[in-house]
Order: sequence, then structure tokens, then C-alpha cells
Amino acid sequence: SRTVERGDDGALRVGGCDVRELAGEFGTPLYIVDEEDMRARAAAFRDHFTAAFGRHGAKCDVFYASKSFLSSRVARWMLDEDLNMDVASGGELEIALRGGMPPERIALHGNNKSDAEIERALKVGVGRLVVDSLGEIGIIDAIAFELGVKAPVMVRVTTGVHAGGHEYIATSHEDQKFGLSLATGAAMDAVRLVHAAENLELLGIHTHIGSQILSIDAFRESATRMLKLRADFAAESGVEMPEVDLGGGYAIAYVPGAESIDPQVAAFEMADAVAEALEAAGGSWPRLSIEPGRAISGPAGMTLYRVGVVKTVQLEEGGERAYVAVDGGMSDNMRTITYGAEYSATLAARLSDEHPKLSRVVGKHCESGDIVVRNVELPGDVDRGDLLAVPATGAYGRVMANNYNGLLRPAVVSVRDGEATLLIRRDTMEDLLRWDVAPD
Ligand code: LLP
Repeated sequence: SRTVERGDDGALRVGGCDVRELAGEFGTPLYIVDEEDMRARAAAFRDHFTAAFGRHGAKCDVFYASKSFLSSRVARWMLDEDLNMDVASGGELEIALRGGMPPERIALHGNNKSDAEIERALKVGVGRLVVDSLGEIGIIDAIAFELGVKAPVMVRVTTGVHAGGHEYIATSHEDQKFGLSLATGAAMDAVRLVHAAENLELLGIHTHIGSQILSIDAFRESATRMLKLRADFAAESGVEMPEVDLGGGYAIAYVPGAESIDPQVAAFEMADAVAEALEAAGGSWPRLSIEPGRAISGPAGMTLYRVGVVKTVQLEEGGERAYVAVDGGMSDNMRTITYGAEYSATLAARLSDEHPKLSRVVGKHCESGDIVVRNVELPGDVDRGDLLAVPATGAYGRVMANNYNGLLRPAVVSVRDGEATLLIRRDTMEDLLRWDVAPD
């Protein structure tokens, strides 16, 4: 994150807070969120997309994808930065509302929303529900009828743009669970059905081509296909859908030197692609929106661990590797074992002159896949008691944490101007025992 610096004594300070003090006050593992950095990233998306689309006299709203990291205070920050918010469940919806995010700024997603989730969303008056299947259209229509409201709906489209990335987070090929296919005509059928439904208001179409995407061309191509669908529907119905959402997925750099997407470049390229598509197909500008999550929360967060056991193994191919075990692992970072994600690590409370050594940061769980950082050079004298920082864990970290092996999920603190604020408290042993129903 941007406000990380190393003091004269070699210790990291984030947002003006010394990591040793944070570890002392809040314990480890600890997620640290740099508030200024996260807000700045949100503001950058807002400003660049507003400017790029504004050049064409058009508007583009930013919906923060709260699945990447959410607490009610974070919802408040996003509102302060004039962002909207995307929620993927009734649970995320409640946290967003608790933070004061106005319901009309909230979009509800989900491939399998429950009746209760749809009902709650309509009762509080969310700004949009994103329909993910043909069957869901009748369900939302019926619930809206019961409640006597008109439900604002967007149709989620699978555009068929292959954008790369890990299979588990790619969403635009046919053979996966999300959205309605453009190729088979299901997307157009859904648009027609929503338009015809008595209790639904057709806002427009939505797509999300996947996550951790580096190809701007993929974003351009998906914008082009979406505008074509909008024009096709306008041609047959005379109705120009007012809104188009182009989703999230902007890649960040997890390790030093890795590529990422620059929001400014993405904004201008995408505005350009929409302009070209409109020239080709005709029609007026829709109101655009995007849904970045990781690119806002990811780089703003880091995990602070305490080192326990260090051991060295001999490698078959020659040489050796240090196994540096920390006090968390796959329960606080599911991304390495799930997607083969890459991270880096650095000594956090001191510097060392010791030679760097090929190392692997592992956790304390009962399986060998419990790896936080697969390969990293760490000083040869890293030892029990050292603090280790793993950067770029702000997205899909705490939100995917679990209690595997009975570990307690870490706290999240935000730091800013030398002050630390607890966003999410650490699980306690009492919490763990409370979920467990004791025998009589
Ligand atoms: N919009 C929709 C409809 C989405 O499904 C997602 C992510 C986003 C926006 C935000 O994508 P982002 O900008 O954060 O890449 N757990 C995985 C990521 C799953 C993403 C799911 N949907 C990971 O750790 O990489």
C-alpha cells in the first residue's frame, strides 16, 4: 500500500502505525488495511471513469465489489468516496446497510438468490437486482407483485469473451454457472422477458468477464458485445435500455514487478470501445457502470504474521529451502491453495544483513498444501518471534477466512495518520465454543 515505510530501526510503519505496536495491541495474524490507500484507489476509479466517459457526455458509476472485502466502516468509506456497492448475498447487504450505504446505491447479485434475499432487497429498495437465470425472472416478478413494488432489474450476460485467469474465477465461457448466454440467445430472451414482466423495470444489461484480468482488449471486446446486444434489442423493440454494467476484474500486482491494469488506461479504452460500438450500431449513450473489487481493496491490505518454527529441507534438485511457519495459513489466506496465487513476504520489524535464502512461508494447518507464499527470498536468520508481512492480501483474504483446524479468524484493523481502528475483531475461543453445541 502507499503509506508503508521503513523506519530507521528497520520496522515497517503503515498509515503511520508501527507494525510492532499493531501486533502487540491486536495480536497476529492481523490484517492491516491502509485506509488512505483504499480510499485513493476507489477515488481513482471514480475520477478516471467519470472523466473518460464524461468526454462523450456520458456517465459511468463505480460499484465497489464488496465481496472482495467488507465491513460496515468500509461501506461508509465507499459512500464517502461517492461509490456505489455490489453485494452478493443477504449478508453482504446487511453489512452495507449498517455502514449507511443508501439502498438505492446497492446492486444485489447472486446466481442463486433465496426468496428471503430477494424480498429483503426489494423491501429496503435496492437500486438493482442482477438476474442470473431465466427462472429467476418469474420469481422476482412474483415477489415484487406481492410487495406491490416494481423491481429494478439488470440481466447478467455471458458474452463468451475469454479473458484468461484461473478457471475458478473465469466467468465468461459457456460452461460455467453464471449469467445468460449471448451466443445461444438466452440473454436476449431474458431481456425480452424482463421487459414484458408486469412488476419488473428493465434497467439494462450486466456482464462480468472474470477476475484478475490483464487484457484490456478483453474488456473492450466485452463492451462491444454488450452494446451490440443493446442495439439489437432496441432494433426489435424500440426500447433503448438505459444502463450497461461492465463488471469488475481489474488485475493487481501481487508480487513486486508483476503487471496490473491501470484504471486510467482501462477507463479511456473502455469509453473508446463503447463509442466505437455506438458508432457502428447507432443509438444513444447508456449510463455505464463498473464493479472493481480487488483493485480497490487488494493492494490496500497486508497480513502480519508471527514466525514460529523455521526448518530447512534439502531439495532433490540440489540446494535447500527454508520452511518458515507462521501463526496462520490457509485459514486466513485461501488464495494460494485455491488458485495457486503468488504473494511475497518481507521481514516486518527489522532489517537483516544475512544472505537471502530460498524460503516458503507456510501456516500451522494439518496439510502440506497449507502454503501462504510458495517461493520467496528471505534473510537466512529469520527466526521464531520475527514479524513477517505479506502484502496485497486486502482482497479475498478476511472474507474467505475460516476456522479450519479450530483456528481463530484474525482481526482486521485500518490504519491512518498514526491511528488504528478495529474493523473486524478477532474470533475468540469463546466464539468457537459458542458455535459448538455442547453435549448435555
Ligand atoms: N462483479 C461481479 C459480478 C463479480 O462476480 C466479481 C467477482 C466482481 C465484480 C469483482 O471482481 P474483482 O474486481 O474483485 O476481480 N475469490 C477469488 C475472486 C472471486 C471473484 C468473484 N467475483 C479470488 O480470490 O481471486
